[in-house]
Amino acid sequence: MSELIEALKEEHASMRALLDLIEREVERDGPPDYGLLHEIMVYCRTYPDQFHHPKEDLIYRAICRHDPRATPAIDDLQAEHEELAIASGEFAQMVEEAAANGKPPRSFREVALAFVAQYRRHIAKEDAEFFPSALQILSPEEWQDISAQVQDPGDPLFYSTAADRLQALLAREIDRPARST
Ligand SMILES: [Fe+2]
Ligand SMILES: [Fe+2]
Repeated sequence: MSELIEALKEEHASMRALLDLIEREVERDGPPDYGLLHEIMVYCRTYPDQFHHPKEDLIYRAICRHDPRATPAIDDLQAEHEELAIASGEFAQMVEEAAANGKPPRSFREVALAFVAQYRRHIAKEDAEFFPSALQILSPEEWQDISAQVQDPGDPLFYSTAADRLQALLAREIDRPARST
């Protein structure tokens, strides 16, 4: 039960550190490191979009089944996940185009910071409202049922050699030792 929530919170910590990196890159003097932004966005579109958010959707749907009256208080998470996936796709494409053209479009900074703010709001709300509600509402049997449905190949930040650079950055950012495979 709470192991799943603990794992989701840990993934939030990684995501927050990556959002900090995006912000730092777009705010610093000179052109951002498009290679780094590209790696971050590839990660966002794979692990969070395809595995982190679906795990939360399972919890959300279990709460809806358990008590439909509880859902207005925790908003429609599934809709927010769809919005985040669209925002990730749009910013990722902007990064690709900026890298290809050698210079970002005028709206680059604005779009990047809006993406970062949207993601941070979402994560903060889940930490403050959604996770505590889930822990309060769902029974051990319901958590078991959720765990049985979870599909998760593991966070590529911690097993993919392609993500070595991000792993090193994250270990430094959030003061967590890098995991070995
Ligand atoms: Fe989420
Ligand atoms: Fe989340």
